[in-house]
Amino acid sequence: MHRLAAFWESSVGKKAVMAVTGIVGVLFVIGHMVGNLQVFQGAERLNAYGHLLHGPLNELIWGARVVLLVAVVLHMVAAWQLTMRSRAARPVPYAVRTPQVSTLASRTLRWGGVLLLAFLVYHLLDLTIGAVNPAFEEGNVYGNLLGSLQRPLIAVFYIVAMGALALHLYHGAWSSLRTLGVAPESPSPLKRRVAVAIAVIVAVGFAVVPVAVILGIVR
Ligand code: HEM
Repeated sequence: MHRLAAFWESSVGKKAVMAVTGIVGVLFVIGHMVGNLQVFQGAERLNAYGHLLHGPLNELIWGARVVLLVAVVLHMVAAWQLTMRSRAARPVPYAVRTPQVSTLASRTLRWGGVLLLAFLVYHLLDLTIGAVNPAFEEGNVYGNLLGSLQRPLIAVFYIVAMGALALHLYHGAWSSLRTLGVAPESPSPLKRRVAVAIAVIVAVGFAVVPVAVILGIVR
């Protein structure tokens, strides 16, 4: 217990927690994105998938929800504490600030993370709870999705959020590989390409849904 507390107290420990919880998040978004693509196979297929998740697989879903919630909370708390630490290390700002690549990445990670959190809260109210979705009907995943994304402003919000997700995944995938020591030292172009590929595939895979709804391809 003592060791665990010491690990969490150290900045390296917090970064490792961020990397591991980030990987949990990446695995979730990949699964979620693939599941969403069933919207192109029609209402019956997507709703059957929804019923499978909330019916026979309900316990699995609750397990996944708990793991995800813990991961998201740890990820945010560690991010917040690391930000406060780096601020405390430089209480007087630079007179002239010429951001380096790394600080640009960490700033987009922080603000992109805040935007993603806002998206997530809205998204749950929209498609899981239904509080901000006038067309919401329990169990009708397809209808709820259409009811939400047929409003152009909401579709644009979803698409912009997926842009933020791409940046977050790119910088996050890259920095977590560095933290965990999988990509030490050299700015290995191959690993950078892997980070870009994950970011682009996930963001495009999600964004095609609101785009298809707006274009009337999914209706
Ligand atoms: C265009 C992008 C997205 C679409 C169209 C979409 C669609 C959906 C739909 C239809 C549901 C409800 C599923 C159901 O009732 O069983 C849902 C739930 C959810 N989505 Fe998304 N999603 C998108 C992006 C994201 C992203 C980027 C994240 C995470 C960062 C995310 C996290 C979640 C979570 C946590 C749930 C609740 C799962 C649960 O516990 O039941 N979604 N999404």
